[in-house]
Amino acid sequence: MAIRRILRMGHPLLREVARPLRSEEIGTPEMERLIADMVDTLHDYGGIGLAAPQIGESVRLALIEIPGGATRYGDLVPMSLSVFINPVIEVVDPAIAGYWEGCLSVPGLRGFVERPQHVRINYLSESGEAKSLELKGFAATVFQHEFDHLDGKLYIDRITDTRLLAFEQEYERYALPHLEA
Ligand code: NI
Repeated sequence: MAIRRILRMGHPLLREVARPLRSEEIGTPEMERLIADMVDTLHDYGGIGLAAPQIGESVRLALIEIPGGATRYGDLVPMSLSVFINPVIEVVDPAIAGYWEGCLSVPGLRGFVERPQHVRINYLSESGEAKSLELKGFAATVFQHEFDHLDGKLYIDRITDTRLLAFEQEYERYALPHLEA
């Protein structure tokens, strides 16, 4: 296990479409090592999700861990650390809502992004079991953000009003008070 360096915006690998994992790769020591490195890296940097391309591995694998209760992301329904392999997103209801997003690959910035708020995902678990999960609200945004990384997309690509892109300090000073009002 090891903490890996997170690639930052500008690194070309973040812009590649990652390849699916083959069934014979799932559960191998190599993949378990990659997952362990991703867990260590996510916990060291702090965050709620990490996609394999962010540590330089261009495969369709992501981790999500949503803390419960009041956080800087609002009041959340918790989700324990979970591994998502070859995920596919299906929009259940296209109604959108916006959140201020941040990304470990775009440090120091926050941007307001609108996305569908009701989605279903189909994926393989760490052991290769086919699973499906339905998500609403902020969790739907988190999953779309993480899985975008597997397609070489960053949240900044989805900002429709670039006035709503800010440094964290300015976000906290000027945008956050309006959110809490
Ligand atoms: Ni990200």
